[in-house]
Amino acid sequence: MTASNQQIVLASRPDGEATAANFRLESKPVPALADNQVLVRHHYLSLDPYMRGRMNAGKSYAQPQPIDQVMIGGTAGEVVESRHPGFKAGDKVVGMGGWQQYAVVDASQAGLLRKVDTAHIPLAAYLGAVGMPGVTAWYGLVKICTPKAGETIVVSAASGAVGSAVGQLAKVRGCRAVGIAGGPDKCRYVIDELGFDACVDYKAHRDPKALYAALKEAAPDGVDGYFENVGGLMLDTVLARMNAFGRIALCGMISGYDGQPIPLTHPQLILQSRLKLEGFIVSEHMDVWPEALKELGTLVATGKLKYRETVAQGIESAPEAFLGLLKGRNFGKQLVKLV
Ligand SMILES: NC(=O)c1ccc[n+]([C@@H]2O[C@H](COP(=O)([O-])OP(=O)(O)OC[C@H]3O[C@@H](n4cnc5c(N)ncnc54)[C@H](OP(=O)(O)O)[C@@H]3O)[C@@H](O)[C@H]2O)c1
Repeated sequence: MTASNQQIVLASRPDGEATAANFRLESKPVPALADNQVLVRHHYLSLDPYMRGRMNAGKSYAQPQPIDQVMIGGTAGEVVESRHPGFKAGDKVVGMGGWQQYAVVDASQAGLLRKVDTAHIPLAAYLGAVGMPGVTAWYGLVKICTPKAGETIVVSAASGAVGSAVGQLAKVRGCRAVGIAGGPDKCRYVIDELGFDACVDYKAHRDPKALYAALKEAAPDGVDGYFENVGGLMLDTVLARMNAFGRIALCGMISGYDGQPIPLTHPQLILQSRLKLEGFIVSEHMDVWPEALKELGTLVATGKLKYRETVAQGIESAPEAFLGLLKGRNFGKQLVKLV
């Protein structure tokens, strides 16, 4: 039996920007299993922008992360010991085990632990393209942007876990896919590797007029669907380029996650262009997960949906990797590899 389990807990709540001092590394013994419990050794931790929101105490769609407790988060790993008839040592599983090396899971509670097949899909992909970020892309695109062949779909944070899937799913549906991403490397990847039609480097176009001109060139027929991951200048700029009756899926607003204001300068455009704008939280739409995962899984297994990962090594690297994600230092899905 393993003696100790290293964990990252939330030590304090951020005041503005999150820092490494908000986290603490601890070591706890792995408890003995009770009936129906399963011991999972985590191979990968998923780091996701929503975790920043949960570090705050304020009201949101989810409960705040409690202080002094293991940071919550998606995990992929292997069963090493089981006292539940549905699981055996060696099973590959995904769950919400949090930022720690091992998790003891009550497998009698439905949905806490899901077995996955790694024959054609790598284990880590179940935290990305064939997991929560992929389903997020699918839901916002299919259900809110409702793309039709020939239309133009724009997505911000286009090289990321969610954004990369949005553009590729839009291409599968016969759309023109346009990304917005930070820097020439990310933009090149979005076009050359992911197959988007165009990508706007917002870091090369810092002022609103220049960004609008670049978007106009990338989306000459206007924008029919916008998948928003960033907010602020991005939303302002794309709003001005939306076609009448366009649809906007408000998925994330990462440019404001430290609490800074991200004002919308021309909200009248929503009225003038008769736009539909809908925010959503993917975990509130569990009914679509099977359909979405089926398409995403098939596309990944057949090599038609590409993705990229940034992999930090070791539990102690999780806080810095997470802070990097909030600064755009990740390139694709941010993971922490433990095994
Ligand atoms: N609604 C939901 O249910 C749901 C579920 C999952 C994710 N989300 C949201 O989806 C978005 C993408 O998540 P993800 O997991 O795919 O992350 P990601 O795109 O893999 O990583 C975050 C990216 O955001 C960009 N970024 C970070 N700070 C920024 C800033 N201040 N201004 C502009 N861009 C910034 C960076 O890309 P660049 O270098 O290109 O700027 C960074 O790489 C996030 O907003 C997240 O909160 C929502």
